[in-house]
Amino acid sequence: MFEPLSTAFAKNPYPFYEDLRELDEPYFYNDADAYLLSRYCDVEAAARNPTLVRSLEAFMDPATINAQQRSRDWHDMPNHERFVQFSLLERDGATHFRLRVIVLRALSRRLVEQQRGMIQTYVDQLLDQLLQHRAFDFVTDLASHVPGHIIGHLLGVPDEDCPQLRIWSENIVQFFDAGRTPAHKLLAESATTEFYFYLSDLITDRRNKPKEDLISSLVAAQDADEMSESELISTCMLILAAGHGSTIDVLGSGMHALISHPGQMNLLRQQPGYIQKAVQEMFRFESPLPFFHRYASEALILTGRHYPKGTKFGLLYGSANRDPDQFPNADRFDITRHPNRHVAFGRGAHLCLGNHLSRLDMEVIFLSILRRTSHVELSGPDPTYKQSLSARGPESLPVVLTPK
Ligand code: HEM
Repeated sequence: MFEPLSTAFAKNPYPFYEDLRELDEPYFYNDADAYLLSRYCDVEAAARNPTLVRSLEAFMDPATINAQQRSRDWHDMPNHERFVQFSLLERDGATHFRLRVIVLRALSRRLVEQQRGMIQTYVDQLLDQLLQHRAFDFVTDLASHVPGHIIGHLLGVPDEDCPQLRIWSENIVQFFDAGRTPAHKLLAESATTEFYFYLSDLITDRRNKPKEDLISSLVAAQDADEMSESELISTCMLILAAGHGSTIDVLGSGMHALISHPGQMNLLRQQPGYIQKAVQEMFRFESPLPFFHRYASEALILTGRHYPKGTKFGLLYGSANRDPDQFPNADRFDITRHPNRHVAFGRGAHLCLGNHLSRLDMEVIFLSILRRTSHVELSGPDPTYKQSLSARGPESLPVVLTPK
């Protein structure tokens, strides 16, 4: 009944999610070996439950973890294992908290807000070129250039190296997709290794000559013995990987939602003060990272049923965000929605550390487009969305913009 890799799901996953929410018990999805939590109240509570964890270490001995990594073909890729598979996202408890605090310091709302001018300049440059053509692909020509560039800039990577960051990030992350082959494995390991060497040089440089950037503040944390070099590298890789593809996806689906709801686009054009609410609604309406998992570190009872220690749960953030018990008219795209306590950035201990940054990227892009155009429309048929459970966004979005 639940086929998240089907074309029907890619086209419209929401009827599938609705079916799951109506079941008496969480559905067991074989391919992910996980019970799927789909209602807002269950997903939100699970994300906040400290006994539901991300790391296998919380309930499994090292030999069993090792065997499991081998059986899933996650082994024999030393740099990917060291830096990507065991990042702070996959930690719990004191280690996780220690690393999270360091990143929080560097990505606080205040510091992120200071990037607004830099983001605006970059977006203006892109739009100067694109508006000359009027017709372009919103995903490939605009959205896919922004997040990697901005995160690279924030990290302290020179502008000319930012395009390479995007390639590394995509090659590292593709190994998490279903249908992995030995070629994907080689690609992920070589991209991680190249990125590792690149970051090592950058770290040496900042150690000698600190600057006002994220790498310099992480280097200072390492020098103060707050984190190891391996944790430093891994955290840089996570920041790029976590924020790059997801922001591109929600930019694409957000633009698609505005185009498909001309009344909402007009309202935002006339009342740009709605931008923050509009962006939050874009995250709720098409959550770009709809699925994350947790393990039960101890036996628990959920919706009246007993689950043993080690049980894996899928938290369907994308389904929770369309639950009518939480959001009236949940399938309606409404940029004035209030309250809008969506879970697109998760909740609890692992709440997204990049949420201010990605929202700022979106605010700048949508405001700039609406300010500089009088009309935006699709130039082709409805877009095709990615076939995936863990990522949601259009593959491409051909648009025509009428400049003012
Ligand atoms: C479209 C944008 C984004 C979405 C929808 C998103 C979503 C999420 C979600 C749902 C989680 C929690 C995972 C869980 O529950 O297990 C998370 C964690 C995280 N995100 Fe984001 N994210 C976005 C952008 C970013 C950006 C731009 C950055 C960095 C600049 C970032 C950095 C992180 C980090 C470091 C974590 C791990 C936090 C932890 O484990 O404590 N994210 N993100």
